[in-house]
Amino acid sequence: MARPSEQFTCQSCGETYRKWQGRCDSCGEWNSLLQSTADVAVPSGLTTGKGRDLTFTALNADISEYKRSISHIGELDRVLGGGFVPGSSILIGGDPGIGKSTLLLQAVAKMAMAGAPCIYISGEEATQQISMRAQRLGLAEAPVQLASANSIRDIITSVEKTSPVPKLLVIDSIQTVFADNLPSAPGTVAQVRASAQELIRLARKTGTSVILVGHVTKDGQIAGPRVLEHMVDTVLYFEGDRGHQFRILRAVKNRFGATDEIGVFEMSDAGLKEVANPSSLFISSPDKTISGASVFAGMEGTRPLLVEIQGLVAATAQATPRRAVVGWDNARLAMILAVLDTRCDLSFSGSEVYLNVAGGLRVQEPAADLAVAAALVSSVSDIPVPPGSLFLGEIGLSGEVRPVGQTDARLKEAAKLGFTTAIIPAGSKVKSGSMKIIEIEHLREIVSLFTETKPMTRAV
Ligand code: TYD
Ligand code: MG
Repeated sequence: MARPSEQFTCQSCGETYRKWQGRCDSCGEWNSLLQSTADVAVPSGLTTGKGRDLTFTALNADISEYKRSISHIGELDRVLGGGFVPGSSILIGGDPGIGKSTLLLQAVAKMAMAGAPCIYISGEEATQQISMRAQRLGLAEAPVQLASANSIRDIITSVEKTSPVPKLLVIDSIQTVFADNLPSAPGTVAQVRASAQELIRLARKTGTSVILVGHVTKDGQIAGPRVLEHMVDTVLYFEGDRGHQFRILRAVKNRFGATDEIGVFEMSDAGLKEVANPSSLFISSPDKTISGASVFAGMEGTRPLLVEIQGLVAATAQATPRRAVVGWDNARLAMILAVLDTRCDLSFSGSEVYLNVAGGLRVQEPAADLAVAAALVSSVSDIPVPPGSLFLGEIGLSGEVRPVGQTDARLKEAAKLGFTTAIIPAGSKVKSGSMKIIEIEHLREIVSLFTETKPMTRAV
């Protein structure tokens, strides 16, 4: 038999090399190659002629037994696309301390209390620590089956024997479990891949939904292999700013639902609470009058979310003034400043410009352009935006303002929260609602909105 040959595997992307090298050519990661044993190739011909016959079915097969089980946490179910699909595997990633263990403990406890058998296995915490947390959260009475284990062999053996078959199995985390037939350490690509494969197989076989917790590296990817993301059915990220209370659960891959849904939670002393009306978290009251702040209605999946954009333009004596952005795209800010400069005769070259999306959110839609421009012009003129107004629109390089999608849903959300005026691009298709609509065609009209009421107080 051929001797298994040595090879080097990148712990970030799974690429293999014959020799060690400092940097992985495939993903660019430094110092990520580890020695491993190469798979021995199966001689050709062995795979034919000896297999079992497959049974083929049609697309309209009976799927009634595939009824989703709901977690009773509305925001989690929404992100999953309506609950856990039996036999599916879900990977949930997030920074340490963001609340992954808390969320999953709450989910298994709620499901168990509703009568679904659930198992929670932690490789990181002792069972006493988990019980302590459950007691603090008032979930101690939930009939969850709890264990602390690291060996994938033990886990699979025990779960397979459990009767009735569990509806949900949580493994916290996949980096701490290991297969004893592999020589590499827990958390390496080979181990993570092998353990995940075993668990996914178990899920398919028993119909249990399996949740794997995955650690995130400092650049925000699930540690170890991205390979894991390809193997599972659903990938969720749990994100949020540690300085803020709210957390966002986001689907980045979902074989059984939409990927643009988010769930919003708030971390409290009693665990994670669902936020039914997230918009109110990210804005101050609509009648507040401070210059340099404007409100934008973004879309997160099917749900509109109001966010406050804050701009500050400050005079500076420096030759290269600072531009700093939190929660938005740097290049887009530069573009809007250039358009304001060239098309609207507002110069920012002698000023520092700061832009912040309040609440620690990240906005990616170009539809926020107009709100950003409004915040900047408001700051530079020191005139607050008209009270109760909302800005929507994408700005082009010539200064023209372009309509954005789903305007109706965005305006409806704003009206619900007390906004009375919407400043939107001309040509937007809106059904008549309770809001006053101001249609604009060019960015210049935003500038005159501020300058007409009062002359510029600060020269720029
Ligand atoms: P945890 O779920 O352990 O995070 P992860 O599993 O993602 O690493 O969350 C721990 C953090 O949450 C910790 O900093 C304390 C905070 N927390 C609360 O604020 N309230 C609570 O009720 C709980 C259980 C945790
Ligand atoms: Mg944890």
